[in-house]
Amino acid sequence: MWAELLPVGRSSASGGYRRYAWNEADADCRDWFRAQADARGLTYELDRNGNQWAWLGDPTAGDAVVTGSHLDSVPDGGAFDGPLGVVSSFAALDELRSRGKLPAKPLAIVNFGDEEGARFGLACVGSRLAAGQLSVEKAHELRDADGISLPQAMERAGYDPEAIGPDPERLARIGAFVELHVEQGRALADTPHAVGVASAIWPHGRWRFDFHGEANHAGTTRMEDRRDPMLAYAETVLAAREQAERSGARATFGKVAVEPNGVNAIPSLVRGWLDSRAADEATLAAVVAGIERAARVRGGCEGVEVRVTRESYTPVIEFEHGLRDRLAAILTTTEPVPLLPTGAGHDAGILSATVPTAMLYVRNPTGVSHSPAESAAEDDCTAGVTALADVLEGLACR
Ligand code: GLV
Ligand code: MN
Ligand code: MN
Repeated sequence: MWAELLPVGRSSASGGYRRYAWNEADADCRDWFRAQADARGLTYELDRNGNQWAWLGDPTAGDAVVTGSHLDSVPDGGAFDGPLGVVSSFAALDELRSRGKLPAKPLAIVNFGDEEGARFGLACVGSRLAAGQLSVEKAHELRDADGISLPQAMERAGYDPEAIGPDPERLARIGAFVELHVEQGRALADTPHAVGVASAIWPHGRWRFDFHGEANHAGTTRMEDRRDPMLAYAETVLAAREQAERSGARATFGKVAVEPNGVNAIPSLVRGWLDSRAADEATLAAVVAGIERAARVRGGCEGVEVRVTRESYTPVIEFEHGLRDRLAAILTTTEPVPLLPTGAGHDAGILSATVPTAMLYVRNPTGVSHSPAESAAEDDCTAGVTALADVLEGLACR
């Protein structure tokens, strides 16, 4: 499976993946998913929001056990974030069959669309739409950097954007959803465990900071006459670092756009996107408020107008203890399986508001993720498949 998937959407310049919602590489990933479903004689479904499903058993019977993840990437992402969960799902199904285990419940593998939000700025669009956590109106307003709207992008890729919207009937078929994912930290790295179970996802969100100044000549405008938004932006980036460090939180400006973006012009606009996360919602709110305050203070000094827009927000997710404990019991042999919180967002987190949901993490020796350097050892990936097969067997076969 990896041999076919690895070249898809990979940049030869960076070695990273550029699989963005509804682009060509995304279409190739979708074709790959469909081919894997067909090769196993599974019933293929494309839902109204562009999520792909492959069913063993009757999709409408209810109480289904579902596993899967996503195939899209961040800009120059690694090979494992997302695809490890989908590949492992098909491999775990193969493993179940080779064990001679026939699920008593319907079993499905899912590929959620646009998990990373690399193109339209909002993460988990496919699962959010299905779960009713993103309105159709808001989804229609999403635009990529070239001004192409989400419906236009879907249409160009051959999908019907008029169909998007909540999908409660489909989610009601699910008795348990388990997402396997590469770990995005080093909690397992120095332990004897190749696999851990998720406990919680930190609350997280994305905020757009717009700094409006005045374009002018870089050579002739006296320093004291400038209204330079770059200064307010720079101060805000430093404040983000300070606020996050002080609170044990995370704050990152990873994307910035400058207008007019000329070397010899003072910018008229600097737009920076803040990604911030913390262990609890009060801390996250305080961190973001502190960063916003710093932006306004420096903006005031520079004659720069500051506007802050919250583009997305996901509250704290505590995975359902019943399912989590069942997974831990299935996977515990001698030592208890580690329970891990994470600062990363997942479709499993979105779904957890609607269906019983759990996650498995596969050890990542460096902890690096959202980078071409992301890695996982083959033995650990195999252990992940075995663990997922054990979990599917425990949940679906008896
Ligand atoms: C998704 O990977 C996120 O946590 O941003
Ligand atoms: Mn990711
Ligand atoms: Mn992911």
